[in-house]
Amino acid sequence: MVSQVSLLPLAIILVLLSPQPTLSNSISRPGCPDRCGNLSIPFPFGVGSDCSLDPSFNIICDNLSNPPKAQLIIVENAELIEIKEFQVRIVLGNLVWSCYTRAGIDRLDGGFYVSYQMSGQYTFSDGNRVIAIGCDDAVAVTGKDSGRNFAGGCTTFCPSSGDSAPICPDGSDANDLGSGCCQTPIPRGTTNLVVNLSDLHQNWGRDRKLFNCSYAFLGEKGIIDPRLIQLNNSTTLRGDSKNWFGNYTPSVALDWRIGAENCSRAQQGRSTYVCSDNSECLDFDSNVVGYHCRCIQGYQGNPYLPNGCLDIDECSNQTLNPCASNSICNNIPGSVKCTCPKGYYGDGKSNGKGCIRVPPSQMIIKLLVDEKASNETKYSL
Ligand SMILES: *[C@@H]1O[C@H](CO)[C@@H](O)[C@H](O)[C@H]1NC(C)=O
Ligand SMILES: *[C@@H]1O[C@H](CO)[C@@H](O)[C@H](O)[C@H]1NC(C)=O
Ligand SMILES: *[C@@H]1O[C@H](CO)[C@@H](O)[C@H](O)[C@H]1NC(C)=O
Ligand SMILES: *[C@@H]1O[C@H](CO)[C@@H](O)[C@H](O)[C@H]1NC(C)=O
Ligand SMILES: *[C@@H]1O[C@H](CO)[C@@H](O)[C@H](O)[C@H]1NC(C)=O
Ligand SMILES: *[C@@H]1O[C@H](CO)[C@@H](O)[C@H](O)[C@H]1NC(C)=O
Ligand SMILES: *[C@@H]1O[C@H](CO)[C@@H](O)[C@H](O)[C@H]1NC(C)=O
Ligand SMILES: *[C@@H]1O[C@H](CO)[C@@H](O)[C@H](O)[C@H]1NC(C)=O
Ligand SMILES: *[C@@H]1O[C@H](CO)[C@@H](O)[C@H](O)[C@H]1NC(C)=O
Repeated sequence: MVSQVSLLPLAIILVLLSPQPTLSNSISRPGCPDRCGNLSIPFPFGVGSDCSLDPSFNIICDNLSNPPKAQLIIVENAELIEIKEFQVRIVLGNLVWSCYTRAGIDRLDGGFYVSYQMSGQYTFSDGNRVIAIGCDDAVAVTGKDSGRNFAGGCTTFCPSSGDSAPICPDGSDANDLGSGCCQTPIPRGTTNLVVNLSDLHQNWGRDRKLFNCSYAFLGEKGIIDPRLIQLNNSTTLRGDSKNWFGNYTPSVALDWRIGAENCSRAQQGRSTYVCSDNSECLDFDSNVVGYHCRCIQGYQGNPYLPNGCLDIDECSNQTLNPCASNSICNNIPGSVKCTCPKGYYGDGKSNGKGCIRVPPSQMIIKLLVDEKASNETKYSL
């Protein structure tokens, strides 16, 4: 009797001592800020070296400015505006511009070319375009992706006498035709880029440029800000290049990745491999080394944090719950199970057979059906 009584507390102690993974909904490391202003900062990104995975993901949060501004330490002079699953978006004011007088190029030109460089765990995304706005310009683009050289370019041509402002293509396709505007793609994995802008007006037999200024820059494809089309006022272009055209500066998308190895290599070096339990590894690109982590199906959260991928409770989410209203929903790790109550049979799923009442006269058949049904009830999402 005595031994029986003492077993119970021991059992409780054993349960308490058994390792319980600390599950957390936090997107950042414990004790680290998860935002800068309204920018959400998930690990591997973090403010300070203790909060980020490595120097590439270290963020400075200037909370004295209003609203607070974030910046990646290794990407200077560019505000960090968004961190996405595989990309970050920054505001980069670099551009090349040239303004003209009737006699030719004026002496206040913006440099003929602009160069872009990315290092650390970042490359320029192929979601960017080199965009040029103006009339009668050639834009030459040369660069490097994963050590290979590439080259491309486009020309801006204005068909009319210049009484209409340039129209840019919507950006969905490479080398789309615009009017007084052109754009050209860059490859995924781009680390270096030089954009040269040169005048072509004499090639069309025009005696002068139709607009006073022309320029080219790297920016995310998509909508061109209408303020960029004010080409007949060179004063606007000559301001602080980080503040051109009012407060508009283009955003640029960077791809980020972990490490300098592909998944199969990284998984061999267990101490540096960062994908947590219940997550999978995705190679960044066949030509560019590095990888990403992603929670496997049935889990959600931050795959870069220990125990960061949490089981999704499908039963408590109306959209995810697959069980018919008269079946019993059981959340199981990574999946969900629908069971029919006593006296019913079927797969229990709302898009399946659901749960059907067993007619009293068929109790024998029910037993057989139940056995079959029990093999069907468990399935993965
Ligand atoms: C973030 O803050 C800026 C400036 O305060 C605001 O314009 C923007 O809409 C905010 N974004 C979100 C997602 O709240
Ligand atoms: C601003 O950041 C500093 C350190 O980075 C921190 O100590 C301070 O509490 C922050 N202030 C606000 C208002 O968030
Ligand atoms: C634009 O160029 C024309 C012709 O050269 C010149 O008359 C005009 O002053 C220029 N405008 C500006 C804002 O520079
Ligand atoms: C040039 O600027 C003036 C005023 O600044 C504007 O009225 C005119 O439409 C512009 N011309 C073109 C071709 O954009
Ligand atoms: C771009 O401009 C730079 C500097 O003027 C020059 O060295 C380079 O050769 C140019 N590249 C092309 C493709 O024109
Ligand atoms: C040109 O732009 C400057 C600065 O944005 C502005 O002060 C000026 O009035 C503009 N000139 C014309 C002719 O629009
Ligand atoms: C991963 O990298 C190693 C070493 O660089 C290479 O031998 C292997 O083929 C790569 N595996 C894949 C799937 O790309
Ligand atoms: C339910 O799941 C859907 C789809 O994954 C998700 O968008 C939604 O936010 C979830 N709702 C709740 C309350 O968690
Ligand atoms: C149910 O599954 C078990 C084990 O997988 C199998 O032995 C049995 O034959 C199955 N029953 C039916 C009715 O399919």
